Amino acid sequence: MTTSEKKYILKVLGLTKHFDGVYAVNDLSIAFEQGTITGIIGPNGSGKSTLTNLLSGMFEFDKGTVLIEGEHLKKINSYDLPTYGLTRTFQEVRLFEQMTVTDNILVTLTSRHVFSALFESHTQLHLNQAKEILEKVGLWEKRHQLAHNLSYGQRKLLEIARVLAMDAKIILLDEPFAGLFAEMIKVIVSVMQEMKQQGKTLVLIEHNMELIRQLCDYLYVLDEGKLLAQGTPDKVLGERKVIEAYLGE
Ligand SMILES: Nc1ncnc2c1ncn2[C@@H]1O[C@H](COP(=O)(O)OP(=O)(O)O)[C@@H](O)[C@H]1O
Ligand SMILES: [Mg+2]
Repeated sequence: MTTSEKKYILKVLGLTKHFDGVYAVNDLSIAFEQGTITGIIGPNGSGKSTLTNLLSGMFEFDKGTVLIEGEHLKKINSYDLPTYGLTRTFQEVRLFEQMTVTDNILVTLTSRHVFSALFESHTQLHLNQAKEILEKVGLWEKRHQLAHNLSYGQRKLLEIARVLAMDAKIILLDEPFAGLFAEMIKVIVSVMQEMKQQGKTLVLIEHNMELIRQLCDYLYVLDEGKLLAQGTPDKVLGERKVIEAYLGE
């Protein structure tokens, strides 16, 4: 595919965010091609989570522009994310703790607004969709449990199930595999591959280079908030400066 045919659904231009003296993200310009999985790697503290937080409106950025499907944004509001078709997961999983597993999914399916969803009656359609999603991630047996009572790995799976229920176009995944058993990793890998097949755009922050090689079409390496390297995983992971950035961690 030539460059001109590529469709970049998400672009970041000169994005900058500092905390006191630290530039967490420093004049960063990168782009994400629709229907692909793009990896973001880099040593601890290189700005990966901050980038996700900026793209999902958790923090305001100091400078720069974000383009989503060609629309220039100088500011991102987290409550507008469904409108942009963007969703994310958290390095520290966030769920509706006092709701059941099924309700966590129904709330997402029924409405983006928690409180109205609580008082709405769920249609059979939503119940069927929730079942399908929970079966896909292997949580159907746990459907009556409170999110709060799930194991660490099950919580990560429920967060992925919520991503499926969102049906967003752009999905930012901040270390979705961290601390998971092989069996759960397999589930998330196949969910990600399926989403990609459906034309969704995935951004994966991950430390496990085997998973990066297996899943990613393209890779950006960050170091101190700046772009250190980019390209296919095979190319990038062999570069001396990338290896050195990790060794120096
Ligand atoms: N909320 C915050 N307040 C102050 N400093 C922060 C905050 N979030 C991140 N940082 C700093 O920004 C830098 C990048 O952090 P982060 O984006 O979490 O890196 P990564 O996810 O790549 O490990 C680090 O120096 C970190 O200490
Ligand atoms: Mg992080």
